[in-house]
This record gives sequence, structure tokens and C-alpha cells, in this order.
Amino acid sequence: MWLMTRYEDIRSVLADVSFSVSPVGTSEANDSIFQDPPEHTRLRGLVAGPFTPRRIEPYRAAIDAMAKALLEPLARVSGPIDLMERFARPLTMNAICEVVGVPAADRELVRRLTDQLLVPSSEAEGAVAFGGWLELNGYVTSLIARRRGEHREPDSDLIAHLLCDKDGSTVPDVELTTMVLGLPIAGYVSTANAIALAFRYLLTDGWLETLRTAPDSPRLQALFVEELLRMQSGDNGESMPRFASVDVQWGDTTIPKGEMVVAPLVAANRDDTVFPDPDTFDPHRPSSAKHIGFGVGIHRCLGANLARLELQCAVAALVNSTLCFELAEDWAAISWSSNMFGDRYPDRVLASVTTEGTVHRAG
Ligand code: HEM
Repeated sequence: MWLMTRYEDIRSVLADVSFSVSPVGTSEANDSIFQDPPEHTRLRGLVAGPFTPRRIEPYRAAIDAMAKALLEPLARVSGPIDLMERFARPLTMNAICEVVGVPAADRELVRRLTDQLLVPSSEAEGAVAFGGWLELNGYVTSLIARRRGEHREPDSDLIAHLLCDKDGSTVPDVELTTMVLGLPIAGYVSTANAIALAFRYLLTDGWLETLRTAPDSPRLQALFVEELLRMQSGDNGESMPRFASVDVQWGDTTIPKGEMVVAPLVAANRDDTVFPDPDTFDPHRPSSAKHIGFGVGIHRCLGANLARLELQCAVAALVNSTLCFELAEDWAAISWSSNMFGDRYPDRVLASVTTEGTVHRAG
């Protein structure tokens, strides 16, 4: 395979449609968005509308309220709390469910089933993942059947948008189900993990205090989120391998048709010609907006606007609360797992939460 290591080359590969997401010669039936044009264009076109900035921004108030509601009871719990379990994961899942149109009463169930599906890779072949998949599939199928019988404004959520009979054609059930099922899988661990990284810099590097006292806090919070997205590359949301669909001339080299090309976002986002001192977390860096944590080109993350909004709401809720957090173990001692999709995530982030005292700086 060919490995791209520079920012510009990685961007160029991802933007170049001569590179396919499937090995040349395989055209298996696939109902997901992870395929090439023209099918990709058609499927992405079906779901793109509800994820534009104009359609996502109105969710800010609801996601802000979710974040505050999750934080509110924490100070009353004695002993360390797992911030992944009590904050990052439910916030992310609830936000995706809100956009998709999963009723509030069913969100815990969807999260439990998705957790069951996204088991550590060592158990990936096991009955746990398979059972979770079947149950989640069953739930989504029944939800769509239920929703077909309801009248909703097409703009109210993603399922309503997909069910609306725009030009006399309806989206087949199998595509609808695959699309709805894919979203928590694509957007859940990745965004929850970025929130975990927010805890790291807020609680161990003094950023909670900095953001609480900064005169231009909202602007700095937005930059903080962009730097999180740059730094989390490699853990989550890495680009899929690409395959040359024709012989591609790359500088003075030819990449022969059919060969695999890996264009890692982690390398692009740590290219020191674009991000000097790349391993340092620095929200003030002038090139902050250049990160490609959501990819480039036609496969650029569908949920980017939602993920960014969730992160902004999570950080704002933590900064605007009066809570103090003390990590129960040093960040470096936290154990991480990875699931069968290659996402890496901390098993837990344990902290004592109080409304008094000072923010503890560990690690
Ligand atoms: C911080 C969180 C997230 C990160 C870092 C992330 C990252 C990425 C990246 C890098 C890609 C492109 C992969 C490639 O080019 O091979 C991608 C694609 C995708 N993401 Fe995300 N993502 C995040 C959150 C979300 C959310 C919240 C959703 C949906 C609710 C989502 C849905 C998708 C989908 C459907 C695709 C495939 C797009 C296509 O092929 O056209 N992601 N994501």
C-alpha cells in the first residue's frame, strides 16, 4: 500500500475522486453511504439536508439544555463519577437521537444497544455484538414503521425528512434503516471521545479556569473545540483506506490502478509545517482552522456541524457551571479500549464532583 504522510498529499488524495473507497472490482450491494459516486451522491443527497449548518444550529438550545441537565445532579453524588457514562456518552447519543427523531423515552435503549454493538475489538466476533446489532436493527425497523403512520413536518427530524414523499419516490425501508442505524455508530464514540479529550485539557491543564475567566470566553471556547478536533485525530474518525480506480500520476510516481492508499488524518493534523509544535494543545495556534479532523472531499463527515455543536455545548455547560472536578486517577493512567471500527476511547474518566473547592490539576 501507499502511505501519504504530508498534509497537502493527504488532502489531495481525499479530494481526488480517482481514489475509490472500495477495492477495484468489488461492487457488493451496499446500502450505506460508504461507497463511491453515483450511489454515494444519491444516498448522501437524501440525508444531507438535515445536517447543514442552517438546520443544525437550531438544536443548540436543546443540546445546551441536555448538557446542563446531565451536569446538574452530579454534585449530589458522593464518590467518583464516570464522566463518560454520566455525561459524554448520554449527551452525544441524546443529541444524535434528537436530530434523527428517536423519541426521548427510547434513547437509553438505543444507547444500550449501540454500546452492546460497539464492544472492544477482542469481543467483536462475539454474540454480544451480534445480539446488539439484531436488536438495534429490530428497534429501528419498528420505529420507522411507527413513524410511517404519523404526520410530521419534513423539517422536524431526519426520519420525517426521509419519509417525506418529495418527488413521488419513497426511500426503500432497507436504505432508511441502514442510514438511521449508521448514524449513532458513526457519530457516537467519536464525539464522546472528543468530549473525553475536553475533560483532559479542562481538568489537567487548567483550561477550565482559563475559559471561566477569559474576557473573550465564547471565542476561546470555539478555538478550544477546534484544537480538540485536531488533537483527537488518530483515535476516532480516521479516514477509510482509498484504492486507485485508475493509474494515478502522483508527482513523478505512478500509483497503479487497484493499489491501496492510506491518507491518515492523524498525520495531516500533526504535520509540523502546518501546525508548528503539533503535539502541544494550543487553541491559540493561528492555523487552528486548517485541521481536517472531519476529512476532506465528498466523504467529509456528514455529522461535522452536529459534532461541533455538541462539543461547543458540552464545553459551554462545563465552563458555565459552578462545578469543580477532581480526577480520581492521572490522565496517563486511564485505560483505553478500541472497538471493531478502530475507534479508541477511554474506558472511564472518573472524577469527584463538588460545587466548592478548587479545580484539581493532575497529570
Ligand atoms: C468528533 C466527532 C466526529 C469525527 C472526528 C468524525 C470524523 C469523520 C471523518 C474523518 C469522516 C470521513 C472519513 C473518510 O473520508 O474516509 C467521517 C464521515 C462520516 N461521518 Fe463523522 N465524525 C464525527 C461525528 C459524526 C457524527 C455526529 C455523525 C452523525 C450523526 C457522523 C456521521 C458520519 C457519516 C455518515 C460519514 C460518512 C460520510 C460520507 O461517506 O459521505 N460523524 N466522519
